[in-house]
Amino acid sequence: MKRSDDEAALVETARRVLPAGTFGNLAADIVIREGKGARVRDVSGNEYIDYLLGSGPMFAGHAHPEVNAAVTAQLARGTTFFANNEHGIRLAEAIVDAVPCAEQVRFVSTGSEADLYAMRAARAFRKRDKILKFEGGYHGMSDYGLMSLAPKWPGNFPTATPDSAGIPKSIRDEMIIAPFNDAEATASLIAQHKDELAGVIVEPFQRLLPPKPGFLQALRKMTAEAGIPLIFDEVVTGFRFAYGGAQAYYGVTPDLCTLGKIVGGGFPLAAIAGRSEIMAHFDRAKVGDDGFLMQIGTLSGNPVAAVAGLATLEILKRPGTYEAVFATGRQLMSALSEMLRAAHLPAQVKGEPPLFDVVFADGPVEDYRATLRADADLARRFNQSLRASGILKGESKFYLSIAHGEPEVGETLKAFEIAVAALRG
Ligand SMILES: Cc1ncc(COP(=O)(O)O)c(C=O)c1O
Repeated sequence: MKRSDDEAALVETARRVLPAGTFGNLAADIVIREGKGARVRDVSGNEYIDYLLGSGPMFAGHAHPEVNAAVTAQLARGTTFFANNEHGIRLAEAIVDAVPCAEQVRFVSTGSEADLYAMRAARAFRKRDKILKFEGGYHGMSDYGLMSLAPKWPGNFPTATPDSAGIPKSIRDEMIIAPFNDAEATASLIAQHKDELAGVIVEPFQRLLPPKPGFLQALRKMTAEAGIPLIFDEVVTGFRFAYGGAQAYYGVTPDLCTLGKIVGGGFPLAAIAGRSEIMAHFDRAKVGDDGFLMQIGTLSGNPVAAVAGLATLEILKRPGTYEAVFATGRQLMSALSEMLRAAHLPAQVKGEPPLFDVVFADGPVEDYRATLRADADLARRFNQSLRASGILKGESKFYLSIAHGEPEVGETLKAFEIAVAALRG
């Protein structure tokens, strides 16, 4: 891809004023100027088919006219009030209508915050401290979420490994780490620690790894029997795998869930949703001073984000929306699998049709440790080749939108062919 002087100068400025030259998300070498539908353009004018999708929120495509119209109308009426606003209330109602576990909703601005509050709500409800999470599970950037997210040298279960500097040592003792997709090991950890456990948090689809048949059902059963709240982190899967999220898609209802990305329609909005009995801890009048969980946020339920979220949900509710995304995803996944197989590469396509990627490893990949066996160099070269062919994606995810149609599929398949041939060569 050609780089203009303008983009090179911006990259240079970024390197001067931002640590590592970035916002912390993607590498510093590209500066995006605009997006429309399934495509984005960088400052140099290069166009890409966008499978990064803003890391997931833009499921309806960039600059969707209906979302833009709702946002523009709201801008003229004011952008934040702190007090309740109609659109935030309507969005909470839409979540309650859509998501099986959601009886009540609290808004925050990011998925990290939502996860932090969900874990806190479980602690307030259970009056216990420890949270069980799964190795490799992503629950935002809090001290708790960063335990055993991506350890290079995983320790023994259930000991937590912090994945960032600056986390107090004491937090390790508050987390219990279990292997994803291993119901037996999880059951034994829950049995061993049930008197100190406040909650279990899980990505029902962990990064790229679907749950093994029966895993979420087993998790639901063992937590219910022990009276421990089960939290589904649906920041990624909410409104993506189905209108009711992964809990509707996989047919397992947790006690609490967190939502983000799609629900804010491309604006900073996330939510904690769940059973009224647990959500009551956000209400001092219901639980008294001792049980009350304080939660205040300047932009919580922001009306601009709420109208963007509502407009997005209106679009997604239309008949055939999910079927179309799934059909596109299936087409890409199966074509890519076939190309990799024919090239005899040690690789497999993992995920679900709206969200998948290649894992360059042989053998079953069902938990975090198995992903460590993957060939990172092949993945890097595969992504580099795709980028050169005009495909933008994150390090380990293809996010699809409803705007990805036949032309995008055709161009992507050509880019796959080139990338796979380059790896084979
Ligand atoms: C499963 C999951 N939970 C939580 C988060 C954190 O969300 P945010 O980046 O909005 O803080 C993410 C972000 O990608 C996520 O994928």
